[in-house]
Amino acid sequence: MNKIAIITGSNTGLGFETAKALFLDGYYIVMANRSAQKSKLAINKLKKLGKGNKVEYILLDLEDRKSIEAFVAEFENRHGKFDVLVNNGGVLLPKYALTKNGLEKHFDVNYLGHFYLNSLLLNSMSDSGLVVSLGSLAHKMEVADIHFDDIAFKNIAYKKMTAYSQSKLALTLYGVELARRFEGSNKRSIIVHPGVSNTDIFSRYYGRYLGKIVMPIVKLFGITGPKEGAQSIIHAILTSDIPNGSFIGPQGKKEWCGNPGVCKLSDKARDKILANKLWKYSEELIGNEFNIN
Ligand SMILES: NC(=O)c1ccc[n+]([C@@H]2O[C@H](COP(=O)([O-])OP(=O)(O)OC[C@H]3O[C@@H](n4cnc5c(N)ncnc54)[C@H](OP(=O)(O)O)[C@@H]3O)[C@@H](O)[C@H]2O)c1
Repeated sequence: MNKIAIITGSNTGLGFETAKALFLDGYYIVMANRSAQKSKLAINKLKKLGKGNKVEYILLDLEDRKSIEAFVAEFENRHGKFDVLVNNGGVLLPKYALTKNGLEKHFDVNYLGHFYLNSLLLNSMSDSGLVVSLGSLAHKMEVADIHFDDIAFKNIAYKKMTAYSQSKLALTLYGVELARRFEGSNKRSIIVHPGVSNTDIFSRYYGRYLGKIVMPIVKLFGITGPKEGAQSIIHAILTSDIPNGSFIGPQGKKEWCGNPGVCKLSDKARDKILANKLWKYSEELIGNEFNIN
């Protein structure tokens, strides 16, 4: 039996490279993507690798609760159990926008959508399953904080990097707290960061200037492509003895690139009180308790 890996946002970028590496390693891949067309193209690329057909997609839009519920129902109907879940899908620096849940886009897509998905899906994880959550160096930025009093930046000024770092700190706090809640079981939660990797994420909201002109120049200073950027994620999954709660990222200069290894989380990301406050607050936002059995 192949192990099953679910990867959110895997039609492109780091998610696709992760899907490719796991597919080549013999995993059955379930792509959790919001576009059927992009998913089909990505699946065709994997099938051309000559390693069989063990890949499919189920639609998932992280900012749509109904879509998350439908994904979980469909996955359980088709497969029942999974072994690896990668909380990968995300956005970077869009203009200020509220989702239909009334939340700021970074927070809803990058963090809360994953929190809701995990709350519904983790009962279907195998006893030695692994959850990998995509953190970022941004979780260590000075501006990185959880703005409980104004999570959607309705009153405080919206600054894109502040909002991105809030969402990445939130997902990191979640990954670390999940590891605490997995203690005493064989389940693991690992947090990873890719360094800085030249993917579509930089051009989606900035267009030609950042994506096509600035990034290739910055590349000269060590920024790599999606294949290299995905190595931390792939290492976290394919190396079986990485301890629960680890933070994995590139070991090169400034942790921008290089071979994967253990990195240091910020003090805030390890703050248990903050993590529990966020967990409770997130339960209120999704209107459900999220208990780990
Ligand atoms: N690249 C870096 O340097 C870097 C650094 C630190 C952290 N990260 C993190 O790594 C992860 C992957 O980023 P990437 O660089 O690979 O970016 P990317 O190439 O832009 O890929 C992002 C993926 O997320 C998906 N996505 C966006 N909104 C979604 C939604 N509402 N529901 C479901 N999927 C959605 C996208 O789907 P569509 O194609 O349909 O939009 C795409 O598949 C992100 O969490 C990002 O924050 C990246």
